[in-house]
This record gives sequence, C-alpha cells and structure tokens, in this order.
Amino acid sequence: MIFLVTAGPTREPIDPVRYISNRSSGKMGYAIAEAALKAGHDVVLISGPVKLHSSRGAKLVSVSTSDEMFDAVHQHAGDCDVCVLCAAVADYKPATVSPLKIKKRGDEISLELVPTRDILASLGSRRDRRFLLVGFAAETHDLQENAVKKLRAKNCDIMVANDARVGMESDENELLVLFRGGEIKKFHRTPKQILARELIKIFSKFATKVFDKKNVMISERN
Ligand code: C5P
Repeated sequence: MIFLVTAGPTREPIDPVRYISNRSSGKMGYAIAEAALKAGHDVVLISGPVKLHSSRGAKLVSVSTSDEMFDAVHQHAGDCDVCVLCAAVADYKPATVSPLKIKKRGDEISLELVPTRDILASLGSRRDRRFLLVGFAAETHDLQENAVKKLRAKNCDIMVANDARVGMESDENELLVLFRGGEIKKFHRTPKQILARELIKIFSKFATKVFDKKNVMISERN
C-alpha cells in the first residue's frame, strides 16, 4: 500500500523574521512513516520544519506553511491508499504578512489572525476519495468527546486522540483510537515507535477491509 503521512508543525509568517508555530516535534508522524516502511509499504512523508532525519526510502516533501502543506497533500493524496494526517497544522495565520520586519514601538500592537484551511476536512470531503483517512486529535480536555466530534465533522475513518500534555515533544504517547463504526481501542503510555507499529497494523487491516480487490472503496463506508 502507499501511505501519505503528514508530520510536524507548520510556520505561519508574520514578517520576514517572525512566525507563529507550535511545539510539535514531528516524532509521532516520523515514527509512523518509519513503521509503514518497515512493514513493506511505500511512504510519502509531508513534513513541516522538524529536527529529525527522514527514514531512508520515504519520499520526503518538506513544507513550511499550512498552505504549502495543503497543496502538497492534495497533490499526492489521490495516489495513496492511506492518508495519516499527524501534523500539528496551525489553525490560524496572520491576515497579512509584512514584507519588512515590524519595528518595535512603545505602544501595543495587535495581530489579526484568520483561519487556515483545514487539510483533513478538505480530504474528508473529496468526492474522488479512495483512500482510508486517519486524523489525529491533540486535546487538553474532554479527549474522547472532542475526538468523536472531529471524526464526524472531518469525515475520517479513524481518529487517533492523545492528550497534548503527554504526547507533545515526548518520546512516548498515550492514545485512544476511535473508529467510524464506534469501536474504541486504548493504548497506555508507550514509546512512539512501538505505538506506530501497532497503528500501522490497525490502519492496514482497516484499509484491506474497506477496499475490494480492485482497490475501490466499497459501500460499508456508511
Ligand atoms: O481540529 P484539529 O486541528 O484539532 O484537528 C486535528 C487534525 O486535523 C489532525 O489530524 C491535523 O493534522 C488536522 N488538521 C489539518 N489542517 C488544519 C488543522 C488540522 O489537516 N488546518
């Protein structure tokens, strides 16, 4: 199978030297890409700026902003069987980007932010969708409830939820895997590499179930 994996944060520029970003390390996404390769799959890894080395064998597409990630994902998704959107994409970006460095002044300044495009939701609503769609939800509260809402709102097949306070920057994670049929699997605190291996097994099993031999999604999607 061909896996598309997004990983890491995005950077939304304010001016030539400043940006808005988040603490995502990319470790979970890179571990998933690595585990998919080790299981014999092909991998397209679309990565925001991280301090990690991509696994040899993955096709690495490096991006910086949410708009670049949006374009790269849509360019490759149609060729893939499973899309795992693990990146911590910025939800907001500055309404305008100053072409010159904003100078320090004595008074207050404010920054107008506008929503970024939701990549996961845009894939979920693609009419030509033939791939299994997996989202990640990092939450600090009401983990399961929020993840179920996202699974439905973004029309995913699987949503992997984690407490952002446990998983961010860490080598370990604690996960809830929610399936569109309502089933839930829980993983207690475990190294990300081991979790990634388990997730790849789950994703490939699910993908095999919902694709017929010609690689066409069948009607059990509802
Ligand atoms: O709604 P929220 O940002 O918490 O959803 C998280 C999921 O949505 C992750 O899978 C993330 O990669 C994806 N996402 C996205 N594009 C955005 C925001 C989030 O693909 N602009």
